[in-house]
Amino acid sequence: MINEINSLRAEIAVKLPGIKTSNDLENFRLEYLVKKGKLTGLFDRLKDVSKEDKPVVGKELNLLRQFTETEFNSLKDKLEDSAESVPDIDLTLPGRRNFTGSKHPVLQTIQGMVDIFQSMGFTVAEGPDIEDGYHNFDALNFPPDHPARDMQDTFFIKSDSELLLRTHTSPVQIRVMKSQKPPIRCIMPGRVYRNESINARSLAEFHQIEGLYINKKVTFAELKGTLMTFAKKMYGDDSKFRFRPSFFPFTEPSAELDMSCFLCKGKGCRICKQSGWLEILGCGMVHPNVLSECGIDPDEYSGYAFGFGIERVTLLRTGMDDIRLLYENDIRVLEQF
Ligand code: PHE
Repeated sequence: MINEINSLRAEIAVKLPGIKTSNDLENFRLEYLVKKGKLTGLFDRLKDVSKEDKPVVGKELNLLRQFTETEFNSLKDKLEDSAESVPDIDLTLPGRRNFTGSKHPVLQTIQGMVDIFQSMGFTVAEGPDIEDGYHNFDALNFPPDHPARDMQDTFFIKSDSELLLRTHTSPVQIRVMKSQKPPIRCIMPGRVYRNESINARSLAEFHQIEGLYINKKVTFAELKGTLMTFAKKMYGDDSKFRFRPSFFPFTEPSAELDMSCFLCKGKGCRICKQSGWLEILGCGMVHPNVLSECGIDPDEYSGYAFGFGIERVTLLRTGMDDIRLLYENDIRVLEQF
């Protein structure tokens, strides 16, 4: 028995320096100190030792147990201390990704367009989102019974056209023409609101960029040239465009600019309603009534104006096929642009 105690002591003495982690320590405890462990097992056999040997064997066994428990406890303390100061680090785990934000695709479009127009000599102006009927309609030559004034298209804040959410950025033209003297060459980006049902092509709240150039002898050819220069810079030399006659109360003559569909390249698809073309802006020569309303003599000055829908431009630029994707704020969509 004494021999067994000695060899167990030797075994334990070899094991102890090898204990480096709490896992090792637990294995040690399970091997020696639990009820069925090697050390406890020796105590069980004490009953078989002869009466005269018992005190000696018992003493040796107790010494070994004391020694083992003291060592066990001090190792336990040591490991707990070091666990507090140095957290377990698994160096094999992949590093945490650093999420950096980026500009929203609509903002990227606005900034890209502003950059191009600024390089062509346009300055930037802004106006309020909450407008009155005068700036949004009357000064822009809308007749009193124009359907756009209807509750169905316009979000009114107060009745009688007193206050409303602007339905386009054209009221900023009025504010600019009333506060500046020609020549005026500026663009006016901003948010606009329409009481429309939301679908893949339209939203109730979106953005436009308005453009305005007023000077002596401005011609429609200049409007065309400016827009074509812009469009080629924005979409590349090989995109195709066409002007189509149109109507706006505040321009005469008026036109719309179409671009060949980005998805089907002009063959006809769901996005372009099988026409092969997508409308990107409205434009025209500023109506003489609008010039006079703003104190500019239509016999001396003329000018052109245009207005883009920015979300539409963003779809063309990114190839997204549903305008709603822009505002669902799904990171998986936004981080692609
Ligand atoms: N304001 C018009 C719209 O919202 C666009 C436009 C602007 C047309 C300027 C002509 C000139 O549809």
